[in-house]
Amino acid sequence: MRSNPLSDCDINMTEKTINIPVKVYGLDELSPERRRVADLALRYTENAYAPYSRFSVGAAIELDNGEFVCGANQENVAYPSGTCAERSACFSAGARFPQARFVRIAVAARGTDGAVTEPPTAPCGACRQSLLEYERLAGHDVEVILTGRETVYVLPSVRSLLPLAFTEF
Ligand code: THU
Repeated sequence: MRSNPLSDCDINMTEKTINIPVKVYGLDELSPERRRVADLALRYTENAYAPYSRFSVGAAIELDNGEFVCGANQENVAYPSGTCAERSACFSAGARFPQARFVRIAVAARGTDGAVTEPPTAPCGACRQSLLEYERLAGHDVEVILTGRETVYVLPSVRSLLPLAFTEF
């Protein structure tokens, strides 16, 4: 008699480890292209309407038509009615420039103390899923720049932020 009957289920089990590639930079080490979107995301934290959480997030998207579309979290007294910065930016980009494709996106956030977060803030699950849609539309990787007070995480793609993502198509 085996002591653990569940081990039968593991006989053909294989294990997979999924790694996420993250490059870590100092804010001042960013290339001018990356620094431009990072600075826009930082600036747009000032446009957050976050009287309930007092957590202010900014997002900036560079499009392949040369435009930059930014967003900031917008809260509501009926809490779930609010929107994150990343979705405010990507839905705005989709609505304003439906033919354009995303090139890179930057995110930055200020905590309740008003200071830019360190380490950098990363998008929530719903925002990752929403951004992934635009990466798939672009047909190529969309770089993600997570901007902290001193540290910046650069990921090569949205899909690297959301391993095992749901995709229907
Ligand atoms: N928030 C964002 O804007 N982006 C995220 O990815 C996570 C959270 C906002 C939502 C809410 O207004 C505040 O941050 C606190 O959760």
